[in-house]
Amino acid sequence: MQKPNRRLEKQTCIVSGASSGIGQAIAIAIAKEGANVVVNFYKNKEGARDTVTKINELKNSGRAITFQADVSKEDEVIAMFAKTKEEFGNIDICVCNSGIQIDAPLHEMTLKQWSLVIDTNLTGQFLCAREALKEFLKTGIRKGVSRSAGKLLHISSVHEVIPWAGHANYAASKGALAMLMQSICQEYAPHKIRCNSIAPGAIKTDINKSVWSSETKLNDLHKLIPYQEIGEPGEIGSVASWLASDESEYINGTTIFVDGGMTCYPGFTTNG
Ligand code: BGC
Repeated sequence: MQKPNRRLEKQTCIVSGASSGIGQAIAIAIAKEGANVVVNFYKNKEGARDTVTKINELKNSGRAITFQADVSKEDEVIAMFAKTKEEFGNIDICVCNSGIQIDAPLHEMTLKQWSLVIDTNLTGQFLCAREALKEFLKTGIRKGVSRSAGKLLHISSVHEVIPWAGHANYAASKGALAMLMQSICQEYAPHKIRCNSIAPGAIKTDINKSVWSSETKLNDLHKLIPYQEIGEPGEIGSVASWLASDESEYINGTTIFVDGGMTCYPGFTTNG
């Protein structure tokens, strides 16, 4: 990873689902820029501790704490924001990242499989965004700290635009996130609050381990990526820390695809 630029000093960030994969990489990248980080986890306490250890190993990073909360539960999200304020005094950045996949052909998908995915991926992001917005509105711009009154980052997916057979609950949750993010931008940009999404393509994490741990499946996956490589979580971390910083101040209401070109539909290279 590149040297930090200290772009987020004196700021505090909550990262939901930061005990592994993309969330962990984002927490580390943001702490590296000097921000304090709340490492949210649901079940993986050890993973969350590992994120904090990795942050503590960095020189001059912000301080990090873990916080257990199921982001689909209103009271738990509210408690997480209260703890963040108590510990760090302010909240400047919220990365709504928690996401799960429970795959099934649609005609066989149970209501439970549908709801668990929507509750975590969409309602969880709504609850975190809502609590963050309350804080951002209350505090306003902190002069000398950031040009924004607050930054919201939604971690979406290429499947906010690419349909995904066998994963309709997941694709529906990600498609909805685009409208949530853009509506928040429209509503709160006048308060100088920024809201954007990052849409990762295939990034090597636990969520798609069954694909990248099989040579045949990985080769098939590469056919969907013009760059012909699966991404690493750090690729998302570096975009997130920049998108949370003043360097991207005029970016609002946008989804940044970090996907090696996946959304350019490489299947059409020699067909269509
Ligand atoms: C999914 C991964 C998948 C990638 C590309 C992500 O949002 O979580 O499982 O590999 O999209 O299809």
